[in-house]
Amino acid sequence: MSNPTIDQLNQRFDLGGLARFEEGRGGLTRLVIAAPGVTGEVYLHGAHVTHWQPEGFAPVLWVSARSFYESSKPIRGGVPICFPWFGAKVDDPAAPAHGLARTRAWDVSAVHRTADGEIVVELHAIILDFAVTYTVTFGPTLTMTLHVQNRARQPRAFEAALHTYLTVGDAREVQIRGLAGTPFIDKTDSAKRKVQGAEPIMFSGETDRLYLGTTAACVLDDPVLMRRITVEKSGSNSTVVWNPWIAKSATMADFGDDEWPGMCCIETANAADNAVTLASTADCTMTAAVRVERR
Ligand code: BG6
Repeated sequence: MSNPTIDQLNQRFDLGGLARFEEGRGGLTRLVIAAPGVTGEVYLHGAHVTHWQPEGFAPVLWVSARSFYESSKPIRGGVPICFPWFGAKVDDPAAPAHGLARTRAWDVSAVHRTADGEIVVELHAIILDFAVTYTVTFGPTLTMTLHVQNRARQPRAFEAALHTYLTVGDAREVQIRGLAGTPFIDKTDSAKRKVQGAEPIMFSGETDRLYLGTTAACVLDDPVLMRRITVEKSGSNSTVVWNPWIAKSATMADFGDDEWPGMCCIETANAADNAVTLASTADCTMTAAVRVERR
């Protein structure tokens, strides 16, 4: 069943009102989760998680009001999956930025409820030589696990990122901790290699940094929304921190000119020096876990 209808999906993965497939924006199919303690949403297009909101908090993920909802374009916000390359493809600059996963129609392989009442969604896609399974758990923590297996007869390399857009009260006021002393590639400064100082990251201009060789959790302190967001990870050695600021926002058709203060990205990744090579049939996983607490 390659393209099941919404009715077929609801019959096959019946969780009553807790998780229902419906026609989302642009006619794209999404799964809407409304379980005790948490609401969420994931589109089959790109396996984009576009909403996660534990009870008692404002929505944690940011989505642009100007996002496209079209099968040929990524959604601007939530958690796009960058795979099997990050940014421009090194040997083919004309290839789509951030890979093929975010514009792929993913299949649903499971939807279930855990004993703790969390809703787990499993999506699957074959992308080039890789079999990719993406498991998302909607609960007090949002847990996203990307499992990749190399189906080629030869070793294959890939990059990946869970490109997590976070809603913030004011990007100029937030502080991000967890990357002190970490080397990074500064994409806003001719890809120069630099090292983060001891101070937390604060945004005061366009920021586009690929931190390398880091497995640390990042903690985003938001004094305006009075909350702290933690992005913890495993199987990931890179972290990307991004805010486009004023000029770059103005160049993006799917990003409102005034939206940049309301978001920033902390991306769980394996990119550049941290690209992964898998032997034939070998597999690996990368997980990002997002939590929110009152400050
Ligand atoms: C970030 C990159 O991960 O994604 C940036 O580091 C890029 O360089 C940003 O601008 C958004 O990318 P895109 O392709 O979604 O516009």
